[in-house]
Amino acid sequence: MITNICCIGAGYVGGPTMAIIAQKCPHIKVTVVDLNEKRIAAWNDENVLNIPIYEPGLSDVVAEARGRNLFFSTDVDAAIDAADMIFISVNTPTKTYGVGKGMAADLKYIELCARQIARVAKNDKIVVEKSTLPVRTASAIKNILDHTGNGVNFQILSNPEFLAEGTAVEDLLAPDRVLIGGDTTPEGQKAIDLLVEVYANWVPKQNILTTNVWSSELSKLTANAFLAQRVSSINALSELCEKTGADVNEVARAIGMDSRIGPKFLKSSVGFGGSCFQKDILNLVYIAKSYGLNEVADYWEQVIIMNDHQKRRFAKNIVKTLYNTVSGKKIAFLGWAFKKDTNDTRESAAIYVADDLLNEQASIHVYDPKVGAVQIQSDLNYLETRSEASNSEGVHVYDNPYEACKDAHAIAVLTEWDEFKAYDWQKIYDAMLKPAFVFDGRNILDAEKMNAIGFQYYKIG
Ligand code: UDX
Ligand code: ADP
Repeated sequence: MITNICCIGAGYVGGPTMAIIAQKCPHIKVTVVDLNEKRIAAWNDENVLNIPIYEPGLSDVVAEARGRNLFFSTDVDAAIDAADMIFISVNTPTKTYGVGKGMAADLKYIELCARQIARVAKNDKIVVEKSTLPVRTASAIKNILDHTGNGVNFQILSNPEFLAEGTAVEDLLAPDRVLIGGDTTPEGQKAIDLLVEVYANWVPKQNILTTNVWSSELSKLTANAFLAQRVSSINALSELCEKTGADVNEVARAIGMDSRIGPKFLKSSVGFGGSCFQKDILNLVYIAKSYGLNEVADYWEQVIIMNDHQKRRFAKNIVKTLYNTVSGKKIAFLGWAFKKDTNDTRESAAIYVADDLLNEQASIHVYDPKVGAVQIQSDLNYLETRSEASNSEGVHVYDNPYEACKDAHAIAVLTEWDEFKAYDWQKIYDAMLKPAFVFDGRNILDAEKMNAIGFQYYKIG
């Protein structure tokens, strides 16, 4: 039986996943480690509302388990040494240099972890890949462990995370399925069984799927590619709807009632974001290309091309509607996170829309309930489109939505936060320049009501 788990990486995946394991398995000591001292200090903050990741319900889970059997630490070696099972939950960003630049996953953090585990481990360990990794990464990890280790035995499992940010706690408590891939040897099977036992503390056995390692790794990429493809498919139709007078919400409802298609993931938007979709599809494209499967690569790449188009056309439409110039105009952004109920901004559509509008010399005024100025500036600086000084000159961040919208020429809704629907839109209208434009990139506002107030209201599709 597993009694001691270490998780390397205290981010959006490692943090919530380990908090739930600790909550549901009081007999297992769970230690989450990270090199980032500030992040660990925030996880340990006396006030549990200050943990570094915002997820509905997460602070209650942490409050219950922290100090009992859930610990956060920067002492990576000690936690590896003590653990029977080590989860790797470090980030695997898209490479920004060398071969596979802009496409392949950068595995340097994974390799560093593997080397560290090999150096420290003095008894047999089960190593679990939690981060989304390209197919066959497990063999690279195994290679490093076996060749640089202290002669102890390692079993590598793939246990991809399917939680979506914003609903992480719900998703972890009642997952559609838990997927565990391992070696098809007796030792591999034993390791799989041990991890199944951990999840079986709260997940029904029939929802725990076991496969070989490669199927598990590829299933994760495929799940994200299929989900992203649905969003790009409905977004492709949104543009056609705008031209023909069809309504994309009605189309989505009509096709979603076909049980073979289903209603979920058909919300047309300004484009998908987040740390997974784009990265995982690029990964799939890269793998396909590296096997010479060009048609397969092109097929999936189109999902990304469509998404880039959707973001760009949203910004273009704002410029066109505001009489072909936004130079010096105040554009208010409601929302910066890549979706509601998270403070994560990775690959958020808002970043790219802001970047396009800054190129048109607009003045951007942002309000997001959970994202602050430092993050917003750093997201823009990361693109390296212009100097950091120009970004901070062009973008202003508020902690009050009414202030952000005051005297604006136009408002762009970039994230579907529930609170936006409840605002006093008459008050916002009264304080804006006229005509007052609203570009709803999430189709969350009531078109009739907005038009009745006097807004020039534009939605997607
Ligand atoms: C995703 C997968 O859902 C999850 O299983 C995986 O483990 C990680 O990647 P996440 O990135 O947290 O999760 O968010 P998700 O809810 O999938 O949304 C991704 C993006 O698509 C968001 O920007 C969201 O706003 C957008 N989206 C989603 C739409 O535009 N329309 C939809 O109908 C659904
Ligand atoms: P994800 O969304 O996949 O959880 P994050 O970027 O939120 O990604 O979290 C990954 C975490 O892993 C970061 O906090 C980072 O500091 C940590 N990390 C990366 N490499 C190592 C390492 N070698 N040892 C410990 N922590 C690491």
